[in-house]
Amino acid sequence: MDYSNLKIPTHVGFIVDGNGRWALERGLNRSKGHEEGFQNVKKITSYVFSKGIKYISAYLFSTENFKRSKKEVDFLMNLLTGKLKEILKFCHDEKIKAVFSGRKENLSNKVLKAMKNIEEETSIYEGRVFNICFNYGSHTEIVDATKKISEKVKDGEINIEDIDEKLFSKYLYQPLPPVDLMIRTSGEMRISNFMLWQCSYAEFYFPKCYFPDFNYDEFDKAIIEYTKRDRRFGGIDYGKKSS
Ligand code: IPE
Ligand code: IPE
Ligand code: MG
Repeated sequence: MDYSNLKIPTHVGFIVDGNGRWALERGLNRSKGHEEGFQNVKKITSYVFSKGIKYISAYLFSTENFKRSKKEVDFLMNLLTGKLKEILKFCHDEKIKAVFSGRKENLSNKVLKAMKNIEEETSIYEGRVFNICFNYGSHTEIVDATKKISEKVKDGEINIEDIDEKLFSKYLYQPLPPVDLMIRTSGEMRISNFMLWQCSYAEFYFPKCYFPDFNYDEFDKAIIEYTKRDRRFGGIDYGKKSS
């Protein structure tokens, strides 16, 4: 689809959901669904950036996902660890700056080192930012930001009166613009602790398909729907409405 005359979002979020059900419905293990989902994240990310969108956030593992079986958690950890090299190559090929959001606790030193390396190596790229949310939870992000700010207040580096939305945003995991369009696949209509702060005025879109089946056409449909939304941000366009 040609996007050139469309008012596209700056920041698109994806809640990558339905990998497990995708696999189970095919008589496969849930892990196969995670593999497929990962490959599709790369495909969709590449397509979305090619359309001029500047920021993508992808939710791949939540702080709550530790409630799953050890077998599934281990698989997801190993999947990410095994794919870090592939992620680095992908980002170089597509000239994408990759950043990671999430708690560092529960991640191995090897993974943390590889993540840091990816962030450093890809920091040379401008214009396309891929925010990979792994071991991410919005509540912990807000709590972590509050702690950092409190430390600075205690040390006299920040005055309480100076704390406002702009300052607070700077203490979140990444300095990103607000999410304009949030897409959650699989038909679930909830946010599951993803970017609560950043989604305050996001438009939500809930396609029924599972993430491994989310393709270019599905993204085009999301964009068409997005362009039809009237984003008022609490205001009123009096030119449009009669008083
Ligand atoms: C999304 O797929 C990936 C993660 C949350 C890690 P799910 O694993 O949640 O798949 P469903 O929702 O059970 O089908
Ligand atoms: C949300 O999906 C987390 C990620 C996509 C990483 P879940 O499948 O974990 O969410 P719930 O449990 O259905 O809310
Ligand atoms: Mg799910």
